Amino acid sequence: MTTKNCNPKDPAFWEEYAKDLQKGPVNKKCMKPDTWDKAAATYDDLDRCADYRNQVNAVIDILQQKGALDKENFIIDIACGTGTYAVKMATKSNKVVCLDISSGMLQKLREKAEKLQLSNIEILQQDWHEFHANDKYDLVFVSMTPLLRSPENIRRFLDLSRRFLSIVTWAGVRENQLLKKLYREIMGKDLKQHGHDMILPFNYIYSLGYAPHLTFFNGCWERLRPARTQAENFIWRLELYRPLAREEKELVINRVESLADSDGMVSVTTRVRTCLMLIDKKEIEFSCS
Ligand SMILES: C[S@@+](CC[C@H](N)C(=O)[O-])C[C@H]1O[C@@H](n2cnc3c(N)ncnc32)[C@H](O)[C@@H]1O
Repeated sequence: MTTKNCNPKDPAFWEEYAKDLQKGPVNKKCMKPDTWDKAAATYDDLDRCADYRNQVNAVIDILQQKGALDKENFIIDIACGTGTYAVKMATKSNKVVCLDISSGMLQKLREKAEKLQLSNIEILQQDWHEFHANDKYDLVFVSMTPLLRSPENIRRFLDLSRRFLSIVTWAGVRENQLLKKLYREIMGKDLKQHGHDMILPFNYIYSLGYAPHLTFFNGCWERLRPARTQAENFIWRLELYRPLAREEKELVINRVESLADSDGMVSVTTRVRTCLMLIDKKEIEFSCS
């Protein structure tokens, strides 16, 4: 990083810091719809993991306790994916607009909304960068998306909110031993996943004068999948860095298949720490007179 401005209370410091986060090939790939279309089929496998479900439920509870979820409220879930949070928010609010660039992810959301008979979900397949809203929303919700690496996006999220902005993202720990091993073996160096973290959203919003509430979650996210599906998921993850040759893909498949149990299943766990940041714009409107 070549930061010249040394004042972290100045938003410009974080605007400069963020330039490096947006440069890499992973960031560019994670903005493309086909990357997420490929991931959509198995994205919700995580719903079977208790630590993940507990985190999602805790986020919903906190939003409700703080008044961000209310039967009167209009909500937008930006980069909603398969709607893990959106379907829960829809049962506690007036309407949830769900925006995402990936048709594959949104198709999964559509199926869930139909199954749960949720008629107050509006789905918009759109690139956030091309989205222009006429209205503001009571709650703007953004979770686990590369859009959070850009201060410009964060400012737009704040502008779009009438009162609450809620951000969920990684917070310093994201460790999958098998992925690390495969990455080392194939790329010849250690895997670094520092780009996607609460550091930027928290500090940028703080430097803009807000006082965000933070809640951290520690967890072990286990995915139990057929060996082939697990291997394909690792190939997807590794190809965010660069395309793999046929032999490299075979290496991944062989490594993963060697771990299969008698039913052909492989369990993979990621040690994680994530964070919910909640901003209530009303809280900074106070005076001493
Ligand atoms: C890891 S998923 C997170 C999904 C969901 N928010 C969650 O927490 O489960 C990242 C999502 O960001 C979406 N995304 C990436 N770039 C986008 C963009 N420019 N506009 C809208 N959505 C985008 C992807 O399509 C994908 O569904």
